[in-house]
This record gives sequence, C-alpha cells and structure tokens, in this order.
Amino acid sequence: MPDALRHKHLLEAADLDLDDATLVLDTAAQIESALAGREVKKLPTLRGRTVVNLFFEDSTRTRISFELAAKRLSADVINFSAKGSSVSKGESLKDTALTLEAMGADGIVVRHSASGAPHRLATWVAGSVVNAGDGTHEHPTQALLDAFTIRKRLGRLEGVRVVITGDVLHSRVARSNVRLLHTLGAEVTLVAPPTLLPVGIGSWPVTVSYDLDAVLPTADVVMMLRVQAERMNASFFPSAREYSRRYGLDADRMARLADDAIVMHPGPMVRGMEIAADVADSARSTIVEQVGNGVSVRMAVLYLLLGGNA
Ligand code: NCD
Repeated sequence: MPDALRHKHLLEAADLDLDDATLVLDTAAQIESALAGREVKKLPTLRGRTVVNLFFEDSTRTRISFELAAKRLSADVINFSAKGSSVSKGESLKDTALTLEAMGADGIVVRHSASGAPHRLATWVAGSVVNAGDGTHEHPTQALLDAFTIRKRLGRLEGVRVVITGDVLHSRVARSNVRLLHTLGAEVTLVAPPTLLPVGIGSWPVTVSYDLDAVLPTADVVMMLRVQAERMNASFFPSAREYSRRYGLDADRMARLADDAIVMHPGPMVRGMEIAADVADSARSTIVEQVGNGVSVRMAVLYLLLGGNA
C-alpha cells in the first residue's frame, strides 16, 4: 500500500487508481478515529501551509466542508468568493491564479461553472489544485465522501450495487461517482429519463435503466440527484409532477428496497421533487452523515496532497 497519491492535483476521479482511492478512504478513517471524542478537533499537520478556497459558483456544503477541513489541519485558510465578478471567466481565472501564486498558496480548492477550469488553473500555479466541482464535469471529493459513506455503512465497496437516479446529464456528482465506484469495484446502474442521460453513455462502465421500480429490489445503495434547473436551457421532461412520479423516491418506492439498503443524496435536495421529505429524514437516509464524512475525507485529501515536505 503506497503512502502518497500518484498525482499532485485532484482534478477528476480518474486521477485516483484503486490504491490511491483506498489510501484516501483509509486516511479519512484514521483521521476520524484520531479526532473522535477529542474536545479540540484539530491536528497540527498543515501548520504554516496556506489553502485558498476559490468559489466561482454557489456552494453551501462543499465550501464550508473544505474550510473546516483545512482549519482542522491547522492550515491558514483564505476564502475567495468570486461571485459577481464582471471580468470574463477565462481572464478572471488566470488573473486570480497569478495573484494566488504571488501569495504562495500551497493548495487551491476551486469550484467553477466552466468544465475544465481546475485543469487550466493547475497549469498556472505551483500549488496543488483540488476540483470542488467544475460545471457538469466532475466533483471528485463528493465521490470520495460518498464511497466513504457506503463503506462505513455497508462494510465494503467491492460488488456493491449502486443505483444513481435523476439528472445524470448535468451532474458532476454522477460522473465522478461512476468513475470512482467503478475503480473501487462497485456496480453502477443509472436511472433517468432518456433526455437526462448524456450522449455517449454507452461507453460508461454502467448499466442503464428507465425503470426505477424494477431496479430498486436488488440495490444496496440508491443515490438521488437533484434536477439542475439552473443548467437547463430547455424543457427536459413534461412537468415536475410527472418527473417526480416516475423518478422521485417516495415512501412507497423506498419500501421496495432490501432491509439494509441505504438512500443517499449529495445535497442540496429539493424535497418533494426527486426525494420525498419522509424518505430524506428516514433511518435509511445517509444525507446528514455524508456531510459529516465530507470533512474527514477532505482532510485526508488535503493532508495527502499538501502534507509532504514543503
Ligand atoms: C452538488 C454540486 O454542487 O455539484 N452538490 C454538492 O456539492 N454537494 C450537486 C448539486 O448541485 O445538485
């Protein structure tokens, strides 16, 4: 088992092979047990290092989680929220990168509405770049925290049957999860209306179904995705009601699941649309747990990328 990641950056799930992904999950578990029951939830590991959180797009969980992760590792943290900038995206990203470079950022966590923005950024700066969500492309730390949650709840990832349901077309969470879960040996089934599946889905390592009821009885995990109205410039389904009736997870549908199957959602969720309120709040739901696990997993990522010798 290696003790460092192969890559300097974490830009997409494919940056992690099985050893890398397992190392992140094991490190997160170690960090979690090291901090459990402690009054002061802080490790000195990244003292003197600077982490910049660069968010060009809205975020609640991911931004707060990265901030907390860096602070719990004793790094100096700068939060840069770029919303409202009038400069064109490419220019503003490069200018910002050069500023960060001048300030000596060791790690840059970036969220951007343009797919590929973290990859561009990585070519301009000396520090490590972590993709916190780029357009409809990838969100690798979300996939890591989801895998961590599944492993914790079910005790394994190999052979676990995961059903990912909803707006796959616009979902960076789905893309990163499909790739990472495949690396970790899980079996993924995607369920969505045909209009919300990307072109080229045939080359993904997944099974596709249009019938949620048919796949639920054999699922170990059901992961619900939000319908990303803000990324839609056309109508992808007849109505919210119709969508919800066919692809939403309500209590009746949940009853089709095996006894120990779990329900996941990356948040933010739209209660009553892709997931019913009673399902979201049920004992099967790991939604709040996922958020907590996100901090441990992001601590592991920052530690493994920035923790080496300066
Ligand atoms: C997701 C995102 O921003 O990609 N949320 C998250 O990071 N937890 C999913 C979404 O916006 O629906």
